[in-house]
Amino acid sequence: MPAYTTETIAPRYHEALVDWQKKNFPEFSFLEENWPKFYPTQTPYQLLAKVGKLNSESIGYGRFAGHARFENAGDMVGNMFYSARDIIRAQASTELGSIQQHRLTLEKAPTDQMKVAVLRIMAEELRHAYQMFWVLAHDSSWKKPGHPDIAAETMEELLSMELGNHVLDAFNIPFSNFLDNVVFAAVIDLVGKYQLEMQKVFSYAPMARSMGPMLSEEGFHIGSGRGFLKELAVGATNDSGHYSISDIQKALNAWIPRGLEMFGNERGGETAVAFGFKDRNNGTAQAEYHGEVREVLELINVEIVKQKVKEITAPDARSVVREVQDTGETVKDVRPQDLLFVPDVKFFRKRGVEEIALMPYDVTGNLITENGHPITGEQYLGYLATVLPDYYMATRDFATYREALLGHERVAPGSYGW
Ligand SMILES: [Fe+2]
Ligand SMILES: [Fe+2]
Repeated sequence: MPAYTTETIAPRYHEALVDWQKKNFPEFSFLEENWPKFYPTQTPYQLLAKVGKLNSESIGYGRFAGHARFENAGDMVGNMFYSARDIIRAQASTELGSIQQHRLTLEKAPTDQMKVAVLRIMAEELRHAYQMFWVLAHDSSWKKPGHPDIAAETMEELLSMELGNHVLDAFNIPFSNFLDNVVFAAVIDLVGKYQLEMQKVFSYAPMARSMGPMLSEEGFHIGSGRGFLKELAVGATNDSGHYSISDIQKALNAWIPRGLEMFGNERGGETAVAFGFKDRNNGTAQAEYHGEVREVLELINVEIVKQKVKEITAPDARSVVREVQDTGETVKDVRPQDLLFVPDVKFFRKRGVEEIALMPYDVTGNLITENGHPITGEQYLGYLATVLPDYYMATRDFATYREALLGHERVAPGSYGW
């Protein structure tokens, strides 16, 4: 017995999403036809909402702790109502945006297994968008008397979003090669996992009930991302792959800062906790996420060392990884540049606390200075060119960063010595 019941949404929204799929994800029909062949033990794919159970009937956090959860959006007042809508809108935007991103480089998959896995990820993201549409569409109280129909407006807006106007920066970056699909599933879907975990406590019950089924699907996305990243890293180590370790590191350097920013300003998030939407503030969740990415990369590094040092045990390989990364020295022929690392939280930040955003930090978290002053934006762009992929630096997303970086210098010339 599945741990959820299923629901469909009003035909006009159901059809609108199917139309969106036909335009943005026409490969879906191939996956649907072949699903039993690729995933014989999985329930056949269906585009519907899965309504799970609540962990507890009452609100767990914030100013309404102990009260019954809200069943009707209309019972939330003022800011709380609009903040709930904003979270649902952002969530749905990530689902639709990621389908548009994955599709760009789907045909560049090195193996059929990788391609089919990405198709499944895209199909499940489509279901997640459907799930968020259900949250909005099944509850008529999103339309408050005398106010616009917030649910209808939000769904219309979501259906019209393209890469470039999605809510979060990470979903406006076009993929250039299949490394992006893999790194994205490993590190950006992981942020999704954190958000969904936190939102199990959501004080608006329909949102909370949506989290469990979505989380179990995210497990496949993250697992695929990690598995393929390991495969690509091992291929790079044996010179049998499509990408080098340096290519992989540069892709990580491009994506992880955007993943960190998906948590919001690291000193914020208290309002979401006060409304009972999440159980942790932004900084706490972001730190946990950064630690988990480090662990993921350490496991991949262990595999790299096992490729390079014949017959080494996993615990010995782990010691080699740590020694190489802690000392920066070559150990048993394993050089620092043979391994992957997670860039520091302060590296290449566009948003966040003032001391970090648009400041010239290197990948290890050191402020780059000259004569005791932070280097200029122009100089930092020169540094970034050595640690980010060339194709990424040619995107519109990077152009907006460049503008902000150079503009930042003009706004606050004195405060940072610029
Ligand atoms: Fe998703
Ligand atoms: Fe996902």
